[in-house]
Amino acid sequence: MGLLAYCRPGFEGECAQELTAHAATTGGGGFARTERGSGFVELVMPDAATHSNASEVSWRTLIFARQLLQTLGRVERMPREDRLATLLPIIEQTPQRWRDAWIESPDSDEGRELAPLCRALNAALITAMKRKRLLDADSPKRLHICLTAPDAAIVASADIEESAPWPGGIPRLKFPRGAPSRSTLKLEEAFLVLLDDDERARWLKPAMTAVDLGAAPGGWTWQLVRRSIRTIAIDNGPMDAALMESGLVEHRRVDGFRFQPPRAVDWLVCDMVEQPRRIATLVAQWLAQRWCRRAIFNLKLPMKKRYDEVQLCFAILRDAISDTGGTIDLRAKQLYHDREEITVFAALD
Ligand SMILES: C[S@@+](CC[C@H](N)C(=O)[O-])C[C@H]1O[C@@H](n2cnc3c(N)ncnc32)[C@H](O)[C@@H]1O
Repeated sequence: MGLLAYCRPGFEGECAQELTAHAATTGGGGFARTERGSGFVELVMPDAATHSNASEVSWRTLIFARQLLQTLGRVERMPREDRLATLLPIIEQTPQRWRDAWIESPDSDEGRELAPLCRALNAALITAMKRKRLLDADSPKRLHICLTAPDAAIVASADIEESAPWPGGIPRLKFPRGAPSRSTLKLEEAFLVLLDDDERARWLKPAMTAVDLGAAPGGWTWQLVRRSIRTIAIDNGPMDAALMESGLVEHRRVDGFRFQPPRAVDWLVCDMVEQPRRIATLVAQWLAQRWCRRAIFNLKLPMKKRYDEVQLCFAILRDAISDTGGTIDLRAKQLYHDREEITVFAALD
């Protein structure tokens, strides 16, 4: 039938643009259906396309989608006293058995009000699915019911390997005690979402080195120091005193656009509030000059043409690296802890 993506409310337009573009390049086509502020986008595809590569667009490659599911059906006017009576026959009609089932709601104001109902229904659904033998621990699929109103839902399916492993596509991170700013959660989420287990183990090791551009008061530096990575923190503003006592941070009050590292580092991270294309040009320079091996940075998006701006920034990065004869591994997401911005991982291949 199509695809269902969850996104940050207010970014449905960008998510729709991105889904449509991916479906077109994978040979599917289709049109996006969404409502501003709803926190989700549906891509309605012609029947044939559902079975083509278009349904193989992965959550990992999408920037504005927190989760990506295949839609199975829509239900409206569910009786409030017994919603499962409507949902179960739809689930039983599919030949599929399910590893798990999640009832969730979009990250909109209305969606958040439905969260307690989702929790209560989820417990009842699992009990009913067990009774009807619809669950199978070896199944590669997870069932999703997205409640869009108290009496309406979209029934969908996820490939467990190709979807976000968190309900709603939102990793719930606890603010770490001692971290100097809430921004710290952005870098923690970036490590979790943009890297896999193996990459985290290989690329975030003690005694590695990093530069943090726009570091004050030190939330991102704190994440590096927590992994025993020695960090040069660049910012005119003051750094958190306790963080400086770690002995792993060197604070320099210089312009992040002019600073050059005394020797190459493993990581560049950058959270400076600046025009996205200026940041992309700066990171491209760091990678092209081999001043760093890998980078994670934020692109603060303008209000208009945000999707186009991201494409332009990616072109700046790709062109700069191809001019040196190399290729670049680019991954990006609008993280749950991001606001009007996205977070990008870039490395030389
Ligand atoms: C969003 S804050 C960074 C927060 C930080 N990542 C944290 O986790 O605590 C942006 C910082 O960029 C710094 N900044 C902006 N332009 C800069 C520049 N040209 N050079 C160095 N720092 C800059 C600002 O002083 C500000 O402290």
